[in-house]
Amino acid sequence: MKALRIVFISVAIIGLIFACKKAETEKVEAPVEKEMKAEEAAPAKAEAPSYSMAGDVERGKALFKDANFANGKAGKSCSSCHPDGKGLEKAGTKGEFNIMGQRQGSLEDAVNFCIKMALKGEPIETDSQQMKDIVAYIRSIGK
Ligand code: HEC
Repeated sequence: MKALRIVFISVAIIGLIFACKKAETEKVEAPVEKEMKAEEAAPAKAEAPSYSMAGDVERGKALFKDANFANGKAGKSCSSCHPDGKGLEKAGTKGEFNIMGQRQGSLEDAVNFCIKMALKGEPIETDSQQMKDIVAYIRSIGK
């Protein structure tokens, strides 16, 4: 009987030790898991801003009037030469452009050409949100 009790007690003690160890490892693991979750969540958040949104006419109009658009160093905005979109009434429907003697095969290329040559800026990505916005604005001009 005494031997049985000792076995019982030792099993209970061993069980307790294991339980404590488990609790400890769980405690250590928890923050790591949280960190990983935060990491997973971060890129999703970074992607979230409007970059998948359709072009916005009002945002495009604001860029069109912004002398700092596309890091332009000429101190000009698009509207310096195309005030209120003047001269661009047909641009939204065209597939080919001739600007300063240079052929441009798309509206996006035409925009980037003027960014580079007229604004002394850096061309923007064809599928960027800013391009979508400025294209949306240009397409709205003739309407
Ligand atoms: C220094 C003057 C100047 C600035 C600034 C300028 N452009 Fe132009 N742009 C021109 C000239 C010149 C043409 C060719 C003649 C024309 O079609 O008006 C042209 C043509 C265009 C065309 C083609 C029009 C067509 O129907 O063939 C588009 C689109 C255009 N510009 C967009 C822009 C955008 C967007 C900006 C701002 C990022 C901008 N331009 C800034 C001078 C300028």
